[in-house]
Amino acid sequence: MDKLMKDSIENKPDPNKLLEWYDYNARAMPWRVPPKKRLKGVLPNPYHVWLSEIMLQQTTVASVKSYFIKFITKWPTIFDLANAKDEEIMGAWAGLGYYARARNLLKCARVIVKESDGEFPKASEALLKLPGVGPYTAAAIASIAYDIPETVVDGNVERVISRIFNIHTKLPKAKKELAFLAKQLTPTIRSGDYAQAIMDLGATICKPTSPKCNICPWVYYCVSNKAGTSEYLPRKSKKPIKQKRYGIVYFVERVDGAILTEVRPANGLLGGMLSLPSSEWGTSFTEDPPIEGTWELKNGLIKHTFTHFLLNLRIMHTTSDLNQPPKRGKFLSLDEFNPNNLPTVMKKVWKLIKY
Ligand code: ADE
Repeated sequence: MDKLMKDSIENKPDPNKLLEWYDYNARAMPWRVPPKKRLKGVLPNPYHVWLSEIMLQQTTVASVKSYFIKFITKWPTIFDLANAKDEEIMGAWAGLGYYARARNLLKCARVIVKESDGEFPKASEALLKLPGVGPYTAAAIASIAYDIPETVVDGNVERVISRIFNIHTKLPKAKKELAFLAKQLTPTIRSGDYAQAIMDLGATICKPTSPKCNICPWVYYCVSNKAGTSEYLPRKSKKPIKQKRYGIVYFVERVDGAILTEVRPANGLLGGMLSLPSSEWGTSFTEDPPIEGTWELKNGLIKHTFTHFLLNLRIMHTTSDLNQPPKRGKFLSLDEFNPNNLPTVMKKVWKLIKY
């Protein structure tokens, strides 16, 4: 352990300094009980905490806000959500990405309603058994909803901790060490406020670039600030370059205006989502039309970035008559077909088709 790091463990950041900062600087969020209200005894709604934290996995606060409001307006309680149809939930989630989250959300709501009368468990061991709930989300629910001193570690927290302790080990190798150090700092009081405060600090002060160290409530404890290395931390291993994949989307218009659609297989990419029929996404364009017809290639290529690859889609168009059965998929009338329910990549396809 180098001297600076030893000093910083001895000169451990004071959680109260962070909490005092949070009392005046907490970001307003529709699922959040602000610190002044929380101090007066207002309790968070565990359903809101869980729903928001699932949405916030891999997604920014700004993108989540309107989806969160849409969900709690449509499904005000976990009972309403558990009773919703799968396709309603998948449609409402369209555009938020990482669709396994929506499938697990529904599974989880149904488990909670069936097995514990709509009450979320408090202990993180029990939370961890729920569909879609990993270590981060379990800690977030336990701390924010129930004030249990669990340590949340997301990307913001990793950045704050790596800078406070001046950790130069690259991510993801540094994860264990950063989680260990984050735990050392977690107080046993105001656990929910603390969890949200450290994430807000990461998002608004200890930002990835141009951190605002001059107004940071923890600057006095920050080893990387003294070493002048904050901007370079956390260090990250180089990401592998993304492979390209190719696919063909088939736009089939029936003479009555109905459109051929398919629901993506539950376990694959965009699983459970409404889609236009597509070939497999492989290393080349491979034809696999869902219906017989004379196909015409549309001008333009759709490009979309997924976590692990870049997708290029060609669009083929045909018209079909009323009694021609598709090999796969289902025709939806224009009343039944809502393009808002498509995942973002298929919204792009739809836009190209329509404009
Ligand atoms: N990121 C994920 N969950 C959060 C929360 N509850 N507060 C602030 N940032 C977050």
